[in-house]
Amino acid sequence: VPPKVRPASHGDLDELTELWLAIGRHHEPLDPSFRLRVDAAGEARRLLGAWLRDPDAAAFVCGPTGVDGICPARIDGICLVRIDRAPPIQQETARAEISDVGVRPEQRRRGIGSALVAEALGWVTARGVARVEVRVAHGNPEGQAFWRALGFGDFMDVLHRRT
Ligand SMILES: CC(C)(COP(=O)(O)OP(=O)(O)OC[C@H]1O[C@@H](n2cnc3c(N)ncnc32)[C@H](O)[C@@H]1OP(=O)(O)O)[C@@H](O)C(=O)NCCC(=O)NCCS
Repeated sequence: VPPKVRPASHGDLDELTELWLAIGRHHEPLDPSFRLRVDAAGEARRLLGAWLRDPDAAAFVCGPTGVDGICPARIDGICLVRIDRAPPIQQETARAEISDVGVRPEQRRRGIGSALVAEALGWVTARGVARVEVRVAHGNPEGQAFWRALGFGDFMDVLHRRT
C-alpha cells in the first residue's frame, strides 16, 4: 500500500509538534547547537501553527485523515517546506527549502520519507519554483543517504566555529 500523504491541518498540530520535536531530538547528540530547551514544545506548537497559516509554507503528513476534520489517527511522518524570496539581483528570485522531514523510527525504509518529499516537490513546482534546498547535518548519515538517494547533491558547505 503506498503511503498516504496529505497536507497537514490544524487538527494535526499535536502530532506535528511531537514528530517535529523528535527530529530535533535526533539532531541533539550531533552538536550542542541542536540542543532543545526543556520547554520547547509550546513554542514549537505555536511556530507550526503559524506555518500552517503561511501561504508561502506547507506541511505534509503521512497518515489517515480524521473523521469530520477531527484529526487524526496516527501520523507516521512529516515534511515542512517553504518558499524563500530574494530581491531581483540574481536571475533566480525564489527557491524552496525543505526544512524538516522525519518518519517514526519503526516506519522507516518503507517509502514514507520519499512520498512526503515528492508531495513537497509537487507543491513547490506548482508555485513555479524551480529549485529546492535542504540543510543536512554532516553527522546524520541516514539523512545524507536519504537526500542523495532522492537526487539532491552538494551545493554549499555551512562551516562554523565556536568563538
Ligand atoms: C531520513 C528519513 C526521513 C528517511 O525516511 P524513510 O521513510 O525511511 O525514507 P524512505 O523509505 O523513503 O527511503 C528512501 C531511500 O533513502 C535512502 N535511505 C533512507 N534511509 C536510509 C538509511 N538509514 N541508510 C541508508 N540509506 C537510506 C535509501 O536509498 C532509501 O531507499 P531504499 O529503502 O529503497 O533503499 C528518516 O530516516 C528519519 O526520519 N530520520 C530522522 C530525522 C532526519 O534525519 N531527517 C532528515 C533531516 S535532514
